[in-house]
Amino acid sequence: MKVPSYSIHSESVLQPIIFVVGARPNFVKIAPLLRAMSAHQTSVASYLVHTGQHYDKNMNDQFFKDLHLPDPNINLNVGSGSHAAQTAEIMKRFEPVVDDLKPSCVVVVGDVNSTLACALVAVKKGVPVAHVEAGLRSFDRSMPEEINRILTDQISDRLYTTERSAQSNLLREAIPAERVFFAGNVMIDSVQFNRSSTRSVNLILAAAGIDPELFMLVAGYGLVTLHRPSNVDDPEILAKLMAVLVEVSQSLPLVLVLHPRTQSQLVRFGLLSVINTGRMVVLPAQGYLDMLSLLGAAKVVLTDSGGLQEETTALGVPCLTLRSSTERPITLEQGTNTLVGLDRELILSNLVAVLRGEGKKGCMPELWDGCAAERIATDLFQWLSQATPRSLTA
Ligand code: UD1
Repeated sequence: MKVPSYSIHSESVLQPIIFVVGARPNFVKIAPLLRAMSAHQTSVASYLVHTGQHYDKNMNDQFFKDLHLPDPNINLNVGSGSHAAQTAEIMKRFEPVVDDLKPSCVVVVGDVNSTLACALVAVKKGVPVAHVEAGLRSFDRSMPEEINRILTDQISDRLYTTERSAQSNLLREAIPAERVFFAGNVMIDSVQFNRSSTRSVNLILAAAGIDPELFMLVAGYGLVTLHRPSNVDDPEILAKLMAVLVEVSQSLPLVLVLHPRTQSQLVRFGLLSVINTGRMVVLPAQGYLDMLSLLGAAKVVLTDSGGLQEETTALGVPCLTLRSSTERPITLEQGTNTLVGLDRELILSNLVAVLRGEGKKGCMPELWDGCAAERIATDLFQWLSQATPRSLTA
């Protein structure tokens, strides 16, 4: 097992760099960045701020453990709330941290509420913001993440992209090309770094008290995750989705890994009995390593997650995305991803293709090579060492 070392908050004459995390996908992206930062022989300290957006054992603690993340220097403990309440609370609690630390830069990742909230605080304090995973666009403004992406990119000083389409999106939104750096995908750095540390699917199922033979999982299974409010908050949509999954499970047994929101909605809408078919196993949200293991061994993944579209491409596992758009088009063009929305026929026909061995094989997109965080760390130090990075935003 690879155990990285970090030097967090070391003594330094220079102002620290704040790294912000809040939710599951942030943890996966920040781990390789902190590793890369501490590998640089520099006197700049890294300071980890956790907003507390995710807090459960499975959504938070297990990720810190699996990814060997250091304890945050500060946890703002905001917890759950409406978008406005959560974003506002993060801003209120992050502001004094910025006042106190006077960082040379705030690094935010991804597109969650914590990303936008902390970027907004920093930029209003005159602190440069670096955004990792910039420029992705679904062109669907009903997604809260799309709003977070657009606004965070507009106020960022240094923008690190994962695929070439992101650069075009940013230029279209009048962001100067010299602020943008095509670095590759830090999420894939994590996949490559951690792949060899996973345990077997049988052990994971046994730990959850599930007999794989009883559910006929031995000959292969499909992995399902669902958490987008647009898919799980409306009883009719969720019921329709569950009915399609029951049909899918007649050809391929399914393992459903459920976000706490989805789990509670299934209970609330009385849908748990619908999926109790003997061919569907329900697991609570999984930690990073067990999820990687479940993903890698699946015949197909059905999901509405953004990150899983990338991870399945990296692992060469066909992915049927239960959304009508994606902000990660490279996974469609070069990877293993297919958009199926909530369309029963599309879902079933793509499943048949996968079962016939005709699922997308894909290839690894450009710069998804496990070295994205190193490129970002090198660039970040170089950029910060320039006299007045803030002047870039003037
Ligand atoms: C957030 C991100 C989403 C990301 C997802 C990954 C935003 C707008 N959304 O969605 O982009 O894909 O994280 O998981 O930032 N809850 C718990 N325990 C927790 C956290 C949440 O039970 O540790 C439940 C609460 O009922 C909470 C709900 O999940 O109200 C939603 O949590 P929230 O952080 O608001 O958004 P996610 O749906 O997790």
